[in-house]
Amino acid sequence: MRLCPETRTRIGSNRQQQTNRQFGYDARMPSLRPIVILGTGYTGRWIQKLAREQSLPILASSRQPEHHLSDIAQTARIRFDLESPSTWSALPLDADLIWTFPAVPLEQVKAFATHSCSHSRRLVVLGSTSASDRGDEPLTDMPPWIDETCPVNVDLPRVQGEEYLRTKHGGIILRVAGIYGPHRNPVEWIRQGRVGPTNKFVNLIHVEDLAALCLLALQIGRAGDIYNISDGLPRRWTEICVEVSTRWGIVSPREATSSQPGKRINNRKALEGLRYTLRHPDLYRTLATLQQESGVRNCP
Ligand SMILES: NC(=O)c1ccc[n+]([C@@H]2O[C@H](COP(=O)([O-])OP(=O)(O)OC[C@H]3O[C@@H](n4cnc5c(N)ncnc54)[C@H](OP(=O)(O)O)[C@@H]3O)[C@@H](O)[C@H]2O)c1
Repeated sequence: MRLCPETRTRIGSNRQQQTNRQFGYDARMPSLRPIVILGTGYTGRWIQKLAREQSLPILASSRQPEHHLSDIAQTARIRFDLESPSTWSALPLDADLIWTFPAVPLEQVKAFATHSCSHSRRLVVLGSTSASDRGDEPLTDMPPWIDETCPVNVDLPRVQGEEYLRTKHGGIILRVAGIYGPHRNPVEWIRQGRVGPTNKFVNLIHVEDLAALCLLALQIGRAGDIYNISDGLPRRWTEICVEVSTRWGIVSPREATSSQPGKRINNRKALEGLRYTLRHPDLYRTLATLQQESGVRNCP
């Protein structure tokens, strides 16, 4: 039986209570299970913020916590490095995990999971929509929608790691579209020429929505399942470039070229299965907010 997050309590053993106290949350209260963010980078920071707002017991990890997480209380951060087995025991025994970096190399992923990912732990792993692979299907200008049943490219090392964690350890895989948000602004990608006016479809997700979906997947996602994480509105880069040029007069230095058609990612399973309403469903409205926050005015 799966319990809802509010009722998932744990009466800890003495050892677990000690561990909990060591990590700065109160094990005397009937508590939710602690969560460890494996790798607290861009998305991890947002997961941490959201978890704290929801009063969830959360620990942030880094390979160099004293440098990368110096603003986080010592009791709420731990050193964890997939490549360094001596750090694996730092994870509290009763913690659930959100894995936010590519699950490679496979041998190290296997060794870590065997050591640390028992079936009583919940595990969410961030993958990428680049995993899906429609093989030799003919390319068309309007690619078909891709849902979670689409085959994946198992030649990709990170896909091998994700599939191992999913099938052998019940990992919940989130296939994540392009992540944007504060300090990762697609308008800047256009200005810098990292992208240009091609016909390629791009799928995006705001980091705040991604963070919320990570926590929901941990709480109510089905072990061993896959969820596409995207705003569900794939757009061609040409369309975004025109809009950005009209609104802010910003034009990519790249010339228009023909390109691969890209993908159109269907997000229905995640929104329905994880019972979530996007906070950032409208790319252009959110870009306007990001531009405003960085002090840019609209074109007159
Ligand atoms: N950026 C995108 O548009 C995009 C799109 C689809 C999917 N994704 C995937 O989504 C996930 C989150 O992306 P993100 O941009 O938030 O990642 P990120 O900023 O790179 O954060 C991941 C953090 O993990 C830690 N880390 C890296 N390798 C590690 C290792 N071997 N052992 C332990 N910790 C390690 C690093 O922190 P320390 O250096 O402090 O240890 C790093 O900052 C990634 O898997 C990414 O590939 C990204």
